[in-house]
Amino acid sequence: MKVIGVFDSGFGGLTVLRELLPRIPDARYVYLGDTARLPYGSKSRETIARYAISSAKFLVDQGAELLVIACNTATALALDQIRAALPIPVIGVVEPGARAALAAASASPAGIRGSEVVLLATAATTQSGAYTRNLTELGLRSIEKACPLLVPLVEEGWLEEPAQKTVTLDVLRIYLLEALEQAPSANILLLGCTHYPLLTPLIETTLQNLHHRMQIIDSAAATAQAVSLLAPGSHAGEGMTGPECVFYATDSIEKFQRLGSRFLRRPLAEVRLIDLGG
Ligand code: DGL
Repeated sequence: MKVIGVFDSGFGGLTVLRELLPRIPDARYVYLGDTARLPYGSKSRETIARYAISSAKFLVDQGAELLVIACNTATALALDQIRAALPIPVIGVVEPGARAALAAASASPAGIRGSEVVLLATAATTQSGAYTRNLTELGLRSIEKACPLLVPLVEEGWLEEPAQKTVTLDVLRIYLLEALEQAPSANILLLGCTHYPLLTPLIETTLQNLHHRMQIIDSAAATAQAVSLLAPGSHAGEGMTGPECVFYATDSIEKFQRLGSRFLRRPLAEVRLIDLGG
Protein backbone atom coordinates (compact mmCIF):
# COMPACT_ATOMS: atom_id res chain seq x y z
CA MET A 1 0.00 0.00 0.00
CA LYS A 2 1.42 3.35 -1.04
CA VAL A 3 1.77 6.21 1.43
CA ILE A 4 0.82 9.50 -0.21
CA GLY A 5 1.74 12.76 1.50
CA VAL A 6 -0.54 15.72 0.80
CA PHE A 7 0.63 19.17 1.79
CA ASP A 8 -1.13 22.52 1.89
CA SER A 9 -0.78 25.79 3.75
CA GLY A 10 -3.99 24.91 5.57
CA PHE A 11 -7.37 23.30 4.96
CA GLY A 12 -7.72 24.06 1.25
CA GLY A 13 -5.63 21.10 0.10
CA LEU A 14 -8.39 18.88 1.45
CA THR A 15 -10.18 19.65 -1.85
CA VAL A 16 -7.32 17.78 -3.56
CA LEU A 17 -7.44 14.96 -0.99
CA ARG A 18 -11.21 14.73 -1.54
CA GLU A 19 -10.54 14.08 -5.23
CA LEU A 20 -7.73 11.60 -4.49
CA LEU A 21 -9.65 9.33 -2.09
CA PRO A 22 -12.06 7.76 -4.62
CA ARG A 23 -9.34 7.56 -7.30
CA ILE A 24 -6.73 5.77 -5.17
CA PRO A 25 -8.73 4.18 -2.35
CA ASP A 26 -6.07 1.67 -1.31
CA ALA A 27 -3.37 4.24 -0.47
CA ARG A 28 -2.58 5.54 2.99
CA TYR A 29 -2.73 9.35 3.18
CA VAL A 30 -0.75 11.64 5.45
CA TYR A 31 -2.02 15.22 5.22
CA LEU A 32 -0.32 18.28 6.65
CA GLY A 33 -1.96 21.70 6.86
CA ASP A 34 0.54 24.36 7.90
CA THR A 35 -2.22 26.38 9.55
CA ALA A 36 0.09 28.25 11.94
CA ARG A 37 1.87 29.92 9.03
CA LEU A 38 -1.03 30.41 6.60
CA PRO A 39 -1.86 32.28 4.42
CA TYR A 40 1.01 31.59 2.03
CA GLY A 41 -0.73 33.59 -0.70
CA SER A 42 0.49 36.95 0.58
CA LYS A 43 4.07 35.92 1.44
CA SER A 44 7.40 36.16 -0.39
CA ARG A 45 8.96 33.36 -2.45
CA GLU A 46 11.75 32.82 0.11
CA THR A 47 9.33 32.45 3.01
CA ILE A 48 6.96 30.19 1.07
CA ALA A 49 9.86 27.93 0.00
CA ARG A 50 11.20 27.71 3.57
CA TYR A 51 7.78 26.85 5.04
CA ALA A 52 6.92 24.41 2.25
CA ILE A 53 10.24 22.54 2.43
CA SER A 54 10.05 22.05 6.20
CA SER A 55 6.45 20.82 5.83
CA ALA A 56 7.36 18.48 2.96
CA LYS A 57 10.27 17.00 4.94
CA PHE A 58 7.92 16.33 7.83
CA LEU A 59 5.69 14.28 5.51
CA VAL A 60 8.68 12.29 4.23
CA ASP A 61 9.57 11.56 7.87
CA GLN A 62 6.02 10.22 8.30
CA GLY A 63 6.67 7.68 5.53
CA ALA A 64 5.33 9.50 2.46
CA GLU A 65 6.55 7.79 -0.73
CA LEU A 66 4.93 10.30 -3.07
CA LEU A 67 4.16 13.92 -2.24
CA VAL A 68 1.33 16.02 -3.60
CA ILE A 69 1.80 19.76 -3.16
CA ALA A 70 -1.90 20.56 -3.02
CA CYS A 71 -1.23 24.27 -2.46
CA ASN A 72 -1.20 26.37 -5.64
CA THR A 73 0.91 29.07 -4.03
CA ALA A 74 3.59 26.64 -2.79
CA THR A 75 3.60 24.88 -6.18
CA ALA A 76 3.84 28.13 -8.14
CA LEU A 77 6.67 29.56 -6.06
CA ALA A 78 8.62 26.63 -4.67
CA LEU A 79 8.01 23.39 -6.60
CA ASP A 80 11.56 23.11 -7.94
CA GLN A 81 13.08 23.83 -4.53
CA ILE A 82 10.81 21.28 -2.84
CA ARG A 83 11.72 18.67 -5.47
CA ALA A 84 15.42 19.37 -5.00
CA ALA A 85 15.11 18.97 -1.21
CA LEU A 86 13.23 15.65 -1.21
CA PRO A 87 14.18 12.06 -2.07
CA ILE A 88 10.66 11.15 -3.34
CA PRO A 89 8.56 12.12 -6.40
CA VAL A 90 6.68 15.40 -5.97
CA ILE A 91 3.59 16.49 -7.94
CA GLY A 92 2.28 20.04 -7.82
CA VAL A 93 -1.08 21.42 -8.91
CA VAL A 94 -0.04 23.93 -11.60
CA GLU A 95 0.95 21.62 -14.44
CA PRO A 96 -2.09 19.30 -14.10
CA GLY A 97 -4.35 22.39 -13.94
CA ALA A 98 -2.79 23.84 -17.09
CA ARG A 99 -3.11 20.48 -18.89
CA ALA A 100 -6.77 20.24 -17.92
CA ALA A 101 -7.29 23.72 -19.38
CA LEU A 102 -5.62 22.53 -22.59
CA ALA A 103 -7.94 19.51 -22.78
CA ALA A 104 -10.95 21.80 -22.28
CA ALA A 105 -9.69 24.19 -24.96
CA SER A 106 -9.10 21.47 -27.51
CA ALA A 107 -12.59 20.06 -26.90
CA SER A 108 -14.23 23.51 -27.13
CA PRO A 109 -15.70 24.96 -30.34
CA ALA A 110 -13.00 27.70 -30.22
CA GLY A 111 -10.22 25.10 -30.26
CA ILE A 112 -6.79 25.69 -28.72
CA ARG A 113 -5.94 28.70 -30.88
CA GLY A 114 -9.28 30.43 -30.35
CA SER A 115 -9.43 29.81 -26.60
CA GLU A 116 -8.31 32.08 -23.81
CA VAL A 117 -7.92 31.16 -20.15
CA VAL A 118 -8.64 33.35 -17.14
CA LEU A 119 -6.73 32.11 -14.11
CA LEU A 120 -8.02 33.04 -10.66
CA ALA A 121 -5.48 32.64 -7.84
CA THR A 122 -3.79 34.23 -4.84
CA ALA A 123 -1.59 37.31 -5.27
CA ALA A 124 1.61 35.28 -4.80
CA THR A 125 0.56 32.70 -7.40
CA THR A 126 -0.31 35.33 -10.02
CA GLN A 127 2.90 37.29 -9.32
CA SER A 128 4.95 34.15 -9.92
CA GLY A 129 3.56 33.80 -13.46
CA ALA A 130 3.84 30.00 -13.10
CA TYR A 131 0.44 29.26 -14.62
CA THR A 132 1.07 31.60 -17.57
CA ARG A 133 4.39 29.88 -18.26
CA ASN A 134 2.75 26.46 -18.25
CA LEU A 135 -0.23 27.59 -20.32
CA THR A 136 1.96 29.42 -22.86
CA GLU A 137 4.14 26.31 -23.29
CA LEU A 138 0.96 24.41 -24.11
CA GLY A 139 0.01 27.03 -26.72
CA LEU A 140 -2.78 28.67 -24.72
CA ARG A 141 -3.41 32.39 -24.28
CA SER A 142 -4.17 33.41 -20.70
CA ILE A 143 -4.47 36.22 -18.22
CA GLU A 144 -4.06 35.95 -14.45
CA LYS A 145 -6.31 37.62 -11.88
CA ALA A 146 -5.33 37.89 -8.21
CA CYS A 147 -8.35 37.45 -5.93
CA PRO A 148 -7.03 38.05 -2.40
CA LEU A 149 -10.48 38.35 -0.80
CA LEU A 150 -11.70 34.92 -1.83
CA VAL A 151 -9.67 32.77 0.61
CA PRO A 152 -10.97 34.63 3.70
CA LEU A 153 -14.55 34.57 2.37
CA VAL A 154 -14.38 30.79 1.88
CA GLU A 155 -12.76 30.26 5.28
CA GLU A 156 -15.46 32.37 6.92
CA GLY A 157 -18.01 30.18 5.16
CA TRP A 158 -19.75 33.12 3.47
CA LEU A 159 -21.28 30.87 0.84
CA GLU A 160 -24.86 30.09 1.82
CA GLU A 161 -26.49 32.47 4.30
CA PRO A 162 -28.24 35.00 1.98
CA ALA A 163 -26.67 38.27 3.29
CA GLN A 164 -23.17 36.74 3.38
CA LYS A 165 -23.60 35.06 0.01
CA THR A 166 -24.55 38.43 -1.51
CA VAL A 167 -21.20 39.86 -0.37
CA THR A 168 -19.29 36.94 -1.89
CA LEU A 169 -21.26 37.24 -5.15
CA ASP A 170 -20.47 40.98 -5.26
CA VAL A 171 -16.75 40.30 -4.78
CA LEU A 172 -16.78 37.60 -7.45
CA ARG A 173 -18.59 39.94 -9.85
CA ILE A 174 -15.93 42.63 -9.41
CA TYR A 175 -13.04 40.18 -9.90
CA LEU A 176 -14.63 38.53 -12.93
CA LEU A 177 -15.56 41.86 -14.53
CA GLU A 178 -11.98 43.08 -14.09
CA ALA A 179 -10.63 39.86 -15.58
CA LEU A 180 -13.03 39.91 -18.52
CA GLU A 181 -12.12 43.52 -19.26
CA GLN A 182 -8.62 42.20 -20.03
CA ALA A 183 -9.83 39.07 -21.81
CA PRO A 184 -13.32 39.77 -23.19
CA SER A 185 -13.60 36.57 -25.19
CA ALA A 186 -12.10 34.21 -22.60
CA ASN A 187 -13.88 30.86 -22.57
CA ILE A 188 -12.03 28.91 -19.85
CA LEU A 189 -11.88 29.79 -16.16
CA LEU A 190 -9.10 28.00 -14.30
CA LEU A 191 -9.45 27.83 -10.51
CA GLY A 192 -5.83 28.11 -9.34
CA CYS A 193 -6.36 28.07 -5.59
CA THR A 194 -7.31 25.26 -3.24
CA HIS A 195 -10.26 27.19 -1.83
CA TYR A 196 -12.00 28.07 -5.06
CA PRO A 197 -13.72 24.73 -5.80
CA LEU A 198 -16.03 25.58 -2.90
CA LEU A 199 -17.03 28.72 -4.80
CA THR A 200 -17.97 26.91 -8.02
CA PRO A 201 -21.78 27.33 -7.65
CA LEU A 202 -21.36 31.05 -6.88
CA ILE A 203 -18.94 31.50 -9.79
CA GLU A 204 -21.49 29.83 -12.10
CA THR A 205 -24.20 32.21 -10.85
CA THR A 206 -21.92 35.21 -11.38
CA LEU A 207 -21.07 34.16 -14.93
CA GLN A 208 -24.75 33.64 -15.71
CA ASN A 209 -25.55 37.12 -14.37
CA LEU A 210 -22.75 38.53 -16.55
CA HIS A 211 -24.10 36.56 -19.57
CA HIS A 212 -20.62 35.16 -20.11
CA ARG A 213 -20.19 31.45 -20.79
CA MET A 214 -16.97 29.85 -19.54
CA GLN A 215 -15.92 26.32 -18.79
CA ILE A 216 -14.72 26.07 -15.20
CA ILE A 217 -11.62 23.93 -14.63
CA ASP A 218 -10.53 22.94 -11.19
CA SER A 219 -6.84 22.18 -10.65
CA ALA A 220 -7.67 20.00 -7.60
CA ALA A 221 -9.51 17.43 -9.72
CA ALA A 222 -6.87 17.64 -12.48
CA THR A 223 -4.09 16.99 -9.96
CA ALA A 224 -5.84 13.96 -8.46
CA GLN A 225 -6.18 12.58 -11.97
CA ALA A 226 -2.43 13.07 -12.59
CA VAL A 227 -1.52 11.41 -9.27
CA SER A 228 -3.73 8.43 -10.03
CA LEU A 229 -1.73 7.81 -13.21
CA LEU A 230 1.51 7.80 -11.19
CA ALA A 231 0.16 5.74 -8.28
CA PRO A 232 -2.72 3.71 -9.68
CA GLY A 233 -4.96 2.19 -7.04
CA SER A 234 -7.16 -0.86 -7.15
CA HIS A 235 -10.87 -0.28 -6.73
CA ALA A 236 -12.18 -0.53 -3.20
CA GLY A 237 -13.17 -4.13 -2.71
CA GLU A 238 -15.97 -5.44 -0.57
CA GLY A 239 -15.30 -5.20 3.11
CA MET A 240 -12.72 -2.44 2.60
CA THR A 241 -13.19 0.29 5.15
CA GLY A 242 -11.90 3.02 2.83
CA PRO A 243 -8.61 4.87 2.69
CA GLU A 244 -6.71 5.52 5.88
CA CYS A 245 -5.98 9.21 6.49
CA VAL A 246 -3.82 10.78 9.16
CA PHE A 247 -4.11 14.55 9.54
CA TYR A 248 -1.51 16.92 10.99
CA ALA A 249 -1.93 20.65 11.57
CA THR A 250 0.44 23.25 12.97
CA ASP A 251 -2.29 25.25 14.74
CA SER A 252 -5.67 24.72 16.44
CA ILE A 253 -6.96 21.16 16.03
CA GLU A 254 -10.50 22.30 16.72
CA LYS A 255 -10.39 24.84 13.88
CA PHE A 256 -8.81 22.32 11.51
CA GLN A 257 -11.58 19.81 12.24
CA ARG A 258 -14.31 22.44 11.91
CA LEU A 259 -13.10 24.06 8.67
CA GLY A 260 -11.52 20.92 7.26
CA SER A 261 -14.76 18.97 7.28
CA ARG A 262 -16.27 21.58 4.95
CA PHE A 263 -13.41 21.15 2.46
CA LEU A 264 -13.29 17.35 2.71
CA ARG A 265 -17.10 17.02 3.00
CA ARG A 266 -16.74 14.50 5.82
CA PRO A 267 -15.73 14.67 9.49
CA LEU A 268 -12.01 14.57 10.27
CA ALA A 269 -11.79 12.03 13.04
CA GLU A 270 -8.32 12.63 14.38
CA VAL A 271 -6.03 15.61 13.82
CA ARG A 272 -2.56 15.73 15.42
CA LEU A 273 -0.88 18.98 16.36
CA ILE A 274 2.76 19.45 15.38
CA ASP A 275 5.24 22.30 15.74
CA LEU A 276 7.40 23.12 12.71
CA GLY A 277 8.77 26.34 14.19
CA GLY A 278 8.36 29.82 12.73
N1 DGL B 1 -3.53 27.02 -0.38
C1 DGL B 1 -3.38 28.34 -0.99
C2 DGL B 1 -3.40 28.18 -2.51
O1 DGL B 1 -3.86 27.20 -3.07
C3 DGL B 1 -4.45 29.29 -0.54
C4 DGL B 1 -4.36 29.67 0.93
C5 DGL B 1 -3.10 30.47 1.27
O2 DGL B 1 -2.93 31.59 0.76
O3 DGL B 1 -2.31 29.96 2.05
O4 DGL B 1 -2.93 29.05 -3.20
